[in-house]
Amino acid sequence: MAYANGLFDVDSLNSSQIKDFFLKVREFKNNKIETKYNNKVVALLFLEPSTRTKLSFEMAVHRLGARSIYLDSTSESSLKKGESIADTFWTLHAMRPDVFVIRSGDDFPLKKLASESCIPIVNAGYSSISHPTQALLDAYTLFEKFGTQKLKILFLGDVAFSRVAKSNFKIFKTLGYEIGFCSPNYLEINDKELFEGKNFTQLNEALKWCDVCIGLRTQWERSKSIDVENLKKNYQLNKSNLSLLKNEAVIMHPGPTLWGQEFSEDVLSFKNLLIREQVTNGVYVRSALLDSIWSNK
Ligand code: CP
Repeated sequence: MAYANGLFDVDSLNSSQIKDFFLKVREFKNNKIETKYNNKVVALLFLEPSTRTKLSFEMAVHRLGARSIYLDSTSESSLKKGESIADTFWTLHAMRPDVFVIRSGDDFPLKKLASESCIPIVNAGYSSISHPTQALLDAYTLFEKFGTQKLKILFLGDVAFSRVAKSNFKIFKTLGYEIGFCSPNYLEINDKELFEGKNFTQLNEALKWCDVCIGLRTQWERSKSIDVENLKKNYQLNKSNLSLLKNEAVIMHPGPTLWGQEFSEDVLSFKNLLIREQVTNGVYVRSALLDSIWSNK
């Protein structure tokens, strides 16, 4: 019943629930998705931009035989006429979709509405606070590649404002991984307790240490203070430092990647680059999550 009310963040899940979920994702990936939900409708409410999350949820909905309705902040909705975000949510709620998938900024009272809603809500990225389905798909991608091997995971780039880093930290801690980070805005992190791990000031040392390097996009829309020249000079993964990674090390990025900033284009030819696998796995993770909600398992 871990998903009966949807999914707000991954700290509601213990390691055995996460591992059971991964087995289900693997089954789904092995062509076991059934199109058995043709009576279900998912309401996608995206108040911040998205490509991967939005379309992979839609893909997951289609794979399950369900259907979706969609509203974003740029469309011609009554948000443009001044209707509040909360009223917009309750208007959609009154149409009784079977699940809400919501991406929003912190002006949306996600946690409060989730506690008041009788319809399950899945957080599809909440401001700089959380992104649980990204954390599940990133952790699943590592499970698929390395099984239950304990790994050293490095976060590289804008840690302070990244919702991906925050949910990923939680899931990786639950799974017993070691965590390190190398970040130009370490000092701006409010919740230092959440980010307990090795703080590398030298990228070269960090790259030699890790088994997994996860690049993060600078959240320009939230963090205006990062100095691009400093980022490129001291925190960029590129031709001059890629060879410091261990032979079996992998590179990941939740996307969108700003090539030329956190990664140079040299990374595109790195042999263990998992960015596309992450995107593929996102569809199976989201299919398995919707199925878990509807089957109460
Ligand atoms: N990783 C991620 O959330 O990408 P989108 O913003 O494109 O959905």
